[in-house]
Amino acid sequence: MTDRVTINEVGPRDGLQSQSRILPVTERLQLIRALETAGISRIEAGSFVSPKAVPAMAGADALLQSLSKSPSPHGPANYSFLIPNMKGYELAREAGAESVTMVVYASDTMARRNVRMGMAEAERDAFKIIDLARADGIEVIVIVAVSFGCPFEGAVDSAVVHDVAARFVAAGIHRLVLADTIGAADPAQVSALLASLAEDHGPGIFGCHFHDTRAMALANVYAALQAGIRWFDSSIGGLGGCPFAPGASGNVATEDVAVMLGQMGMETGIDDAGLLAASDLATRLTGTAPGGRVREWLRGQIA
Ligand code: COA
Ligand code: ZN
Repeated sequence: MTDRVTINEVGPRDGLQSQSRILPVTERLQLIRALETAGISRIEAGSFVSPKAVPAMAGADALLQSLSKSPSPHGPANYSFLIPNMKGYELAREAGAESVTMVVYASDTMARRNVRMGMAEAERDAFKIIDLARADGIEVIVIVAVSFGCPFEGAVDSAVVHDVAARFVAAGIHRLVLADTIGAADPAQVSALLASLAEDHGPGIFGCHFHDTRAMALANVYAALQAGIRWFDSSIGGLGGCPFAPGASGNVATEDVAVMLGQMGMETGIDDAGLLAASDLATRLTGTAPGGRVREWLRGQIA
């Protein structure tokens, strides 16, 4: 088991999609560049969704164009764009996306609230997209929303998540990320679910996406690490939340995850000073006091 962990920064998407201040593309680009400068190699840069549904994500095509025009001098950042449906895939492909993150669901009500499709329908779209993407040479990450609890249906049966996972692993996707959309998971639940998924399919294909609603996100990261997971979504400054999932609060903060992993001797490639600069920029651009715990301690270390 490797000690290399990938942090997939979702701030520019999950972090910004429900902020009261809507950032123009130039500012989103600035944030992405700051994250790259910090050494973050995977970034969920935006989403191809209806601008009526999520105004903060409008202009993903312009964002992608700017990103491809001037590749980062700081390393090979890999951008993925979230897509909710086939139309999102088509728009992402037209814009030149090299990776898409398609959302499927562990609860039917959450699927209907988010994309007005049932779970099965969203999965059917996802399988069609996987086939197209294979032919188009586009990477597909699948994220399973509300894997640990649903704001509408409550507890989610782990057997449902197992079934979804088995179908998508068999479809040959690049990665399957289990999302705790509303921050309902606890470390015992994470440990049990991820250990059994890892036993069935190996840990390498999985990732985890935790929100910190109940202050358990970092403990959940640790539980997943122990189960062999080496890919974590996190958001700079702990920004985050889903406009269609009541009670969803910030993601686990990238600063907290990076510092914990670093102190535990794991390799993330992230540089503390760059991370702090990106965090300060995120605060300035959004005008909010972001979550996460380690930022001020980190400032003291660097000063
Ligand atoms: N990107 C941009 N526009 C899209 C789109 C996409 N992926 N999918 C649909 N649309 C547009 C349609 O063209 C149509 O536009 P119009 O009103 O100008 O004609 C409109 O959205 C409604 O289309 P329809 O097919 O009826 O969609 P819907 O109403 O069944 O679904 C979604 C609505 C899925 C488009 C919308 O709810 C959405 O984009 N949700 C985003 C969910 C999200 O980002 N959640 C947070 C992250 S998980
Ligand atoms: Zn999220």
